Amino acid sequence: MRDALAGVVWDALRPVLADRRLDIVDAGGGTGGFAVPLARLGHAVTVVDPTPDSLAALERRAAEAGVTVTGIQGDAGDLGELLPPGSADLVLCHSVLEYVEDPAAALAAAAGLLRPGGALSVLAANPVATAVHRALAGNFGEARRALADTAGRWGEKDPTPHRFTPEALTILLAKAAFTVGEVHGAGVFADLVPDRLAEADPDGLAKLERAAAVHPVLRDIATRVHVLAYR
Ligand SMILES: C[S@@+](CC[C@H](N)C(=O)[O-])C[C@H]1O[C@@H](n2cnc3c(N)ncnc32)[C@H](O)[C@@H]1O
Repeated sequence: MRDALAGVVWDALRPVLADRRLDIVDAGGGTGGFAVPLARLGHAVTVVDPTPDSLAALERRAAEAGVTVTGIQGDAGDLGELLPPGSADLVLCHSVLEYVEDPAAALAAAAGLLRPGGALSVLAANPVATAVHRALAGNFGEARRALADTAGRWGEKDPTPHRFTPEALTILLAKAAFTVGEVHGAGVFADLVPDRLAEADPDGLAKLERAAAVHPVLRDIATRVHVLAYR
Protein backbone atom coordinates (compact mmCIF):
# COMPACT_ATOMS: atom_id res chain seq x y z
CA MET A 1 0.00 0.00 0.00
CA ARG A 2 1.40 3.40 -0.90
CA ASP A 3 2.46 5.51 2.09
CA ALA A 4 0.09 8.33 1.17
CA LEU A 5 -2.84 5.90 1.21
CA ALA A 6 -1.82 4.19 4.47
CA GLY A 7 -1.38 7.65 6.03
CA VAL A 8 -5.09 8.33 5.60
CA VAL A 9 -5.94 5.11 7.46
CA TRP A 10 -3.47 5.81 10.28
CA ASP A 11 -4.89 9.34 10.66
CA ALA A 12 -8.41 7.91 10.96
CA LEU A 13 -7.26 5.31 13.52
CA ARG A 14 -5.33 7.71 15.74
CA PRO A 15 -8.33 8.87 17.86
CA VAL A 16 -9.30 5.21 18.44
CA LEU A 17 -5.81 4.27 19.65
CA ALA A 18 -6.27 5.55 23.19
CA ASP A 19 -3.54 5.98 25.77
CA ARG A 20 -4.35 2.58 27.25
CA ARG A 21 -3.27 -0.76 25.85
CA LEU A 22 -5.97 -2.08 23.50
CA ASP A 23 -6.77 -5.66 22.56
CA ILE A 24 -6.68 -5.57 18.76
CA VAL A 25 -7.65 -8.30 16.30
CA ASP A 26 -6.40 -7.83 12.73
CA ALA A 27 -8.63 -10.03 10.54
CA GLY A 28 -6.73 -10.89 7.36
CA GLY A 29 -3.76 -9.06 8.80
CA GLY A 30 -1.35 -10.85 6.44
CA THR A 31 2.31 -10.08 7.02
CA GLY A 32 1.61 -7.45 9.68
CA GLY A 33 1.71 -4.14 7.80
CA PHE A 34 -0.66 -2.72 10.42
CA ALA A 35 -0.31 -5.33 13.19
CA VAL A 36 3.42 -4.85 13.82
CA PRO A 37 3.32 -1.02 14.10
CA LEU A 38 0.29 -1.37 16.41
CA ALA A 39 2.21 -3.81 18.60
CA ARG A 40 5.12 -1.35 18.63
CA LEU A 41 2.70 1.26 20.01
CA GLY A 42 2.14 -1.10 22.95
CA HIS A 43 -1.14 -2.77 21.97
CA ALA A 44 -1.87 -6.49 22.27
CA VAL A 45 -2.37 -7.61 18.66
CA THR A 46 -3.70 -10.89 17.24
CA VAL A 47 -3.66 -11.56 13.50
CA VAL A 48 -6.14 -14.05 12.02
CA ASP A 49 -5.15 -15.05 8.48
CA PRO A 50 -5.63 -18.26 6.46
CA THR A 51 -2.21 -18.15 4.77
CA PRO A 52 0.64 -19.92 6.62
CA ASP A 53 3.31 -18.08 4.58
CA SER A 54 1.87 -14.72 5.63
CA LEU A 55 1.79 -15.77 9.27
CA ALA A 56 5.44 -16.91 9.03
CA ALA A 57 6.40 -13.55 7.49
CA LEU A 58 4.41 -11.80 10.24
CA GLU A 59 6.37 -13.68 12.90
CA ARG A 60 9.69 -12.66 11.31
CA ARG A 61 8.60 -9.04 10.93
CA ALA A 62 7.43 -8.87 14.57
CA ALA A 63 10.68 -10.43 15.79
CA GLU A 64 12.72 -7.90 13.79
CA ALA A 65 10.66 -5.10 15.37
CA GLY A 66 11.21 -6.59 18.84
CA VAL A 67 7.48 -7.16 19.51
CA THR A 68 5.11 -10.09 19.88
CA VAL A 69 2.05 -10.50 17.66
CA THR A 70 -0.12 -13.59 18.07
CA GLY A 71 -0.83 -15.28 14.73
CA ILE A 72 -3.83 -17.59 14.31
CA GLN A 73 -4.46 -19.46 11.09
CA GLY A 74 -8.11 -19.06 10.16
CA ASP A 75 -10.85 -17.36 8.18
CA ALA A 76 -12.39 -13.97 9.01
CA GLY A 77 -15.80 -15.65 8.90
CA ASP A 78 -14.73 -17.93 11.78
CA LEU A 79 -13.55 -15.19 14.15
CA GLY A 80 -16.30 -16.15 16.60
CA GLU A 81 -14.96 -19.70 16.86
CA LEU A 82 -11.30 -18.68 16.99
CA LEU A 83 -11.45 -16.03 19.72
CA PRO A 84 -13.67 -15.40 22.78
CA PRO A 85 -16.68 -13.10 22.36
CA GLY A 86 -16.24 -9.57 23.70
CA SER A 87 -12.45 -9.88 23.85
CA ALA A 88 -11.41 -7.02 21.53
CA ASP A 89 -11.42 -3.21 21.71
CA LEU A 90 -10.58 -2.80 18.02
CA VAL A 91 -10.95 -5.12 15.03
CA LEU A 92 -9.21 -4.32 11.76
CA CYS A 93 -10.61 -5.64 8.51
CA HIS A 94 -8.26 -4.07 5.98
CA SER A 95 -8.29 -5.15 2.33
CA VAL A 96 -9.83 -8.50 3.25
CA LEU A 97 -13.61 -8.11 2.97
CA GLU A 98 -13.10 -8.25 -0.80
CA TYR A 99 -11.91 -11.87 -0.51
CA VAL A 100 -14.11 -13.44 2.18
CA GLU A 101 -16.87 -15.73 0.98
CA ASP A 102 -19.62 -14.00 2.95
CA PRO A 103 -18.76 -10.37 3.85
CA ALA A 104 -21.94 -9.91 5.94
CA ALA A 105 -21.10 -13.00 8.04
CA ALA A 106 -17.51 -11.79 8.53
CA LEU A 107 -18.75 -8.41 9.79
CA ALA A 108 -21.21 -10.14 12.15
CA ALA A 109 -18.33 -12.27 13.48
CA ALA A 110 -16.22 -9.11 13.99
CA ALA A 111 -19.12 -7.50 15.88
CA GLY A 112 -19.27 -10.51 18.21
CA LEU A 113 -15.58 -10.10 19.12
CA LEU A 114 -15.92 -6.46 20.14
CA ARG A 115 -16.61 -5.16 23.61
CA PRO A 116 -19.47 -2.61 23.82
CA GLY A 117 -18.14 0.70 22.44
CA GLY A 118 -15.38 -1.12 20.57
CA ALA A 119 -14.44 -0.06 17.05
CA LEU A 120 -14.17 -1.77 13.69
CA SER A 121 -11.86 -0.34 11.02
CA VAL A 122 -12.79 -1.48 7.52
CA LEU A 123 -10.79 -0.73 4.40
CA ALA A 124 -12.16 -2.05 1.12
CA ALA A 125 -11.68 -1.57 -2.62
CA ASN A 126 -14.07 0.87 -4.29
CA PRO A 127 -15.60 -0.14 -7.66
CA VAL A 128 -15.86 3.51 -8.74
CA ALA A 129 -12.07 3.84 -8.60
CA THR A 130 -11.75 0.55 -10.47
CA ALA A 131 -13.95 1.98 -13.24
CA VAL A 132 -11.74 5.09 -13.40
CA HIS A 133 -8.56 2.99 -13.58
CA ARG A 134 -9.98 0.61 -16.24
CA ALA A 135 -11.14 3.60 -18.32
CA LEU A 136 -7.75 5.33 -18.06
CA ALA A 137 -6.20 2.11 -19.39
CA GLY A 138 -8.62 2.23 -22.36
CA ASN A 139 -10.80 -0.64 -21.14
CA PHE A 140 -14.10 1.23 -21.41
CA GLY A 141 -16.37 -1.85 -21.45
CA GLU A 142 -14.70 -3.18 -18.30
CA ALA A 143 -15.10 0.24 -16.66
CA ARG A 144 -18.82 0.21 -17.49
CA ARG A 145 -19.15 -3.33 -16.14
CA ALA A 146 -17.41 -2.43 -12.84
CA LEU A 147 -19.98 0.32 -12.36
CA ALA A 148 -22.97 -1.92 -13.16
CA ASP A 149 -21.91 -5.15 -11.44
CA THR A 150 -23.30 -5.63 -7.90
CA ALA A 151 -19.91 -6.99 -6.75
CA GLY A 152 -18.05 -4.19 -8.57
CA ARG A 153 -16.12 -6.61 -10.79
CA TRP A 154 -14.85 -5.55 -14.20
CA GLY A 155 -15.09 -9.00 -15.82
CA GLU A 156 -14.53 -12.74 -15.52
CA LYS A 157 -10.75 -12.28 -15.21
CA ASP A 158 -11.05 -9.75 -12.38
CA PRO A 159 -9.08 -11.29 -9.47
CA THR A 160 -11.07 -9.36 -6.83
CA PRO A 161 -14.35 -11.11 -5.86
CA HIS A 162 -16.08 -8.07 -4.26
CA ARG A 163 -15.72 -4.32 -4.12
CA PHE A 164 -17.79 -1.91 -2.03
CA THR A 165 -18.95 1.65 -2.60
CA PRO A 166 -19.06 3.82 0.55
CA GLU A 167 -22.85 3.46 0.46
CA ALA A 168 -22.78 -0.35 0.14
CA LEU A 169 -20.26 -0.66 2.97
CA THR A 170 -22.31 1.61 5.21
CA ILE A 171 -25.44 -0.48 4.59
CA LEU A 172 -23.57 -3.74 5.25
CA LEU A 173 -22.18 -2.38 8.53
CA ALA A 174 -25.58 -1.11 9.67
CA LYS A 175 -27.07 -4.55 8.95
CA ALA A 176 -24.40 -6.07 11.23
CA ALA A 177 -25.68 -3.69 13.98
CA PHE A 178 -22.70 -1.31 13.84
CA THR A 179 -23.06 2.43 14.30
CA VAL A 180 -21.27 3.88 11.31
CA GLY A 181 -18.82 6.67 12.12
CA GLU A 182 -16.28 8.44 9.93
CA VAL A 183 -16.04 7.50 6.24
CA HIS A 184 -12.81 8.36 4.44
CA GLY A 185 -11.51 7.91 0.92
CA ALA A 186 -8.04 6.35 0.95
CA GLY A 187 -6.01 7.00 -2.17
CA VAL A 188 -7.68 9.42 -4.55
CA PHE A 189 -4.56 10.50 -6.45
CA ALA A 190 -1.81 8.09 -5.30
CA ASP A 191 -2.73 5.39 -7.85
CA LEU A 192 -3.44 7.87 -10.65
CA VAL A 193 -0.25 9.90 -10.79
CA PRO A 194 2.88 8.38 -12.36
CA ASP A 195 5.40 6.94 -9.86
CA ARG A 196 8.09 9.51 -10.77
CA LEU A 197 5.76 12.38 -9.79
CA ALA A 198 4.62 10.65 -6.60
CA GLU A 199 8.24 9.97 -5.64
CA ALA A 200 9.30 13.56 -6.44
CA ASP A 201 7.03 15.03 -3.74
CA PRO A 202 5.79 12.35 -1.32
CA ASP A 203 4.94 14.89 1.41
CA GLY A 204 2.90 17.02 -0.99
CA LEU A 205 1.02 13.94 -2.17
CA ALA A 206 0.36 12.77 1.41
CA LYS A 207 -1.05 16.21 2.32
CA LEU A 208 -3.23 16.21 -0.81
CA GLU A 209 -4.51 12.71 0.04
CA ARG A 210 -5.42 13.85 3.58
CA ALA A 211 -7.48 16.71 2.13
CA ALA A 212 -9.11 14.50 -0.52
CA ALA A 213 -9.94 11.80 2.07
CA VAL A 214 -12.66 13.99 3.61
CA HIS A 215 -13.68 15.92 0.48
CA PRO A 216 -17.40 15.26 -0.14
CA VAL A 217 -16.91 14.39 -3.83
CA LEU A 218 -13.35 13.06 -4.06
CA ARG A 219 -13.81 10.75 -1.04
CA ASP A 220 -16.28 8.65 -3.02
CA ILE A 221 -13.90 7.99 -5.93
CA ALA A 222 -10.93 6.90 -3.80
CA THR A 223 -9.23 3.59 -4.56
CA ARG A 224 -10.28 2.33 -1.15
CA VAL A 225 -13.08 3.24 1.22
CA HIS A 226 -12.22 3.44 4.92
CA VAL A 227 -15.00 3.28 7.51
CA LEU A 228 -14.84 3.38 11.29
CA ALA A 229 -17.84 1.72 12.87
CA TYR A 230 -18.71 1.19 16.49
CA ARG A 231 -20.44 -1.53 18.46
C1 LIG B 1 -4.38 -7.62 0.51
S1 LIG B 1 -3.90 -8.53 1.90
C2 LIG B 1 -4.18 -7.37 3.20
C3 LIG B 1 -3.28 -7.60 4.35
C4 LIG B 1 -3.43 -6.60 5.52
N1 LIG B 1 -4.79 -6.60 6.04
C5 LIG B 1 -3.03 -5.21 5.12
O1 LIG B 1 -3.88 -4.33 5.04
O2 LIG B 1 -1.83 -4.99 4.89
C6 LIG B 1 -5.28 -9.63 2.06
C7 LIG B 1 -5.10 -10.61 3.22
O3 LIG B 1 -6.34 -11.24 3.45
C8 LIG B 1 -6.09 -12.60 3.73
N2 LIG B 1 -7.35 -13.34 3.48
C9 LIG B 1 -7.85 -13.79 2.30
N3 LIG B 1 -9.02 -14.41 2.50
C10 LIG B 1 -9.28 -14.33 3.83
C11 LIG B 1 -10.33 -14.80 4.66
N4 LIG B 1 -11.36 -15.46 4.15
N5 LIG B 1 -10.27 -14.54 5.99
C12 LIG B 1 -9.21 -13.86 6.51
N6 LIG B 1 -8.19 -13.41 5.78
C13 LIG B 1 -8.21 -13.65 4.46
C14 LIG B 1 -4.93 -12.98 2.82
O4 LIG B 1 -4.25 -14.13 3.27
C15 LIG B 1 -4.09 -11.72 2.92
O5 LIG B 1 -3.16 -11.79 3.99
